[in-house]
Amino acid sequence: MSDQIIIFDTTLRDGEQSPGAAMTKEEKIRIARQLEKLGVDVIEAGFAAASLGDFDAIHAIAGIIQNSTVCSLARASENDVRRAGEAIQPAMANPQKNGRIHTFIATSKIHMENKLRMTEDQVVERAVQAVKWALEYTNDVEFSAEDAVRSDMDFLIRVFDAVIKAGAKTINVPDTVGYSIPAPWGERMRELIARVPNSHTVVWSTHCHNDLGMAVANSLAAVMGGARQVECTINGLGERAGNASLEEIVMAIKTRNDFFNLTTLVDATQIVTTSKLVSTITGYPIQPNKAIVGANAFAHESGIHQDGVLKHRETYEIMRAEDVGWNTNKLTLGKLSGRNAFRTRLKELGIELASEDALNAVFAKFKTLADKKSEIFDEDLQALVSDEFVSEAAETFKLVYLQVTSQTGETPHALVTISENGLEQHAESDGGGPVDATFKAIENMVKSDASLLLYSVNNITSGTDAQGEVTVRLSKGDRIVNGQGADTDIVIASAKAYLNGLNKLQAKSEKVNPQL
Ligand code: KIV
Ligand code: ZN
Repeated sequence: MSDQIIIFDTTLRDGEQSPGAAMTKEEKIRIARQLEKLGVDVIEAGFAAASLGDFDAIHAIAGIIQNSTVCSLARASENDVRRAGEAIQPAMANPQKNGRIHTFIATSKIHMENKLRMTEDQVVERAVQAVKWALEYTNDVEFSAEDAVRSDMDFLIRVFDAVIKAGAKTINVPDTVGYSIPAPWGERMRELIARVPNSHTVVWSTHCHNDLGMAVANSLAAVMGGARQVECTINGLGERAGNASLEEIVMAIKTRNDFFNLTTLVDATQIVTTSKLVSTITGYPIQPNKAIVGANAFAHESGIHQDGVLKHRETYEIMRAEDVGWNTNKLTLGKLSGRNAFRTRLKELGIELASEDALNAVFAKFKTLADKKSEIFDEDLQALVSDEFVSEAAETFKLVYLQVTSQTGETPHALVTISENGLEQHAESDGGGPVDATFKAIENMVKSDASLLLYSVNNITSGTDAQGEVTVRLSKGDRIVNGQGADTDIVIASAKAYLNGLNKLQAKSEKVNPQL
C-alpha cells in the first residue's frame, strides 16, 4: 500500500453546491490555478451535465491545468458520462496530462427505493455500464457508491466487485449524509478492502460530509483503515454542514506524521492564500476560530499562553503559522508601483485578465486604493480583480453615487444613485443604521422582493485602513445567491455587495443538482 495520500479537491463541485456559492467560469479558473499551485492531485472541476456553464468551465480548466488531474462528476447515465468525457477532452489530448471521470450511483436501500426507484440488480448493471461508457474517454475512472454509509455491506461488496471488474481504478466510499462516526467508518473501509475481490488493484477513497462535525475525523479514520485518497474542500465548503476540510486533513497528516507516517504532495504554504481566495469568490467567510485558516488559529490571547510562546514557541504551538502561509502575505505594491510591476504581480498570482482594457481598469482601481491605503497586499489585489470580473459580467445594476449621513442621536440617511441597464435613478431612505438606510434606498428603486439571509463584513488585511469585504446572501423564490463587494468604506462595499447579489438574481440559472 502506498504511503502517499491522494488529495482530491472538490471545492469546485461539491463546494459549489453550497447555497449561493455558484461560481462563474473565470472564478473557477482562478481557483483551479491556485489549487494546482497548492499541489492537489485531483481537481474535481464540476459536474459537466449540470449546465452549459459547468461544461465550459471544466473544459477550460482541463485545457489550462498541467500538474493536477482534472475530473468531472457524472451520474451513472449515458448522457452524463459522455458530457463528462467531452468536458475533460483537453486534458486527454496532452500525454503529459490526465483527465478523470467520476461516476456515481446510490447504493443504500433508502436511496434505491425512494429516489432511484431501481432494484439492486438494476443498480449494479447501471454502475457497470457507466464505468464502461467512461472508459471510452479515459482509463482514469472513479466510481462512488452514494450513501455508502447507509448501504448494506454485502451489497456494497457486490457493486464494488462489479465495477472493479469493469475497469474502475478508484473506489470512493462516501458518507453522503454525514452520519458516520470515526471508529465504524474506519472499520467499514478496512472490511471493504479485506472482502472486495482484487481490492489491491484499485485506490480506495473516502468522501465525508460534516453534518455531525466529524468529516475530518471520519476521513482520517478511513485513511487508517486503508483509504489512500481523501476527497475534501477548501475551508470545508460544501452542501449543508460542508465536506471534510482540505487544510485540516493535510495538516493533520503532516503534523502527526509520527502517527500516520504518510505524505501528501500539497505545498502547505499555499493553504492560507487558497483559503482566502475561495472565501472571497464564494462569499463564504471563514470563522475566526476555524482550524488552520481562521484569523485566530495562531493568535494567543491569554497572557499565560503569550508568555509561554515567547519563551518557547512549542509550548502552545503545534504548527508554525508561516508553514501554512500566514504572515507570508507580501507587501506587494505601493503608491509608486508602475503598471509593469502590477502586471507581473498579477501574473505571479496566476491571474490573467481578459484584455489590456481590463488590466487598465484594475490598475486604475489599484491607484485609487493606493491613495487611501498605504500598503497593498496580495489579498487586496485579489479583491480588486474580483471586482473587475464582476463588472465584466452582464450587470443590470451599478452603483453610481452614495452619500450617507450618520451622526450620534440622529437617524441615519442614505442618498443613492444607481444605473439600471445604463439608466440612472435616485432614491433616499432613513434606516436603523447607514447600511440599512442604503439597502432601503436601493430597494425603493429596484423593488426586488428578495430576502436578506446574511450580511457579513470581513477585513481583507489588517489595520483600520484595510478594505472591508462585504457578503450578502439573498434569496428569492427557490434561488439563493451571494453578493460581494470590497472597499475601504464598508458602506460603499455593502452597497456594491447588495447590487452584486441583485445582479446574480437577475441572471438565469439552469443548473441541475447531481444528487436530486
Ligand atoms: O456526497 C456524495 O455522496 C457525493 C458523491 C457524488 C460522491 O458528493
Ligand atoms: Zn458529497
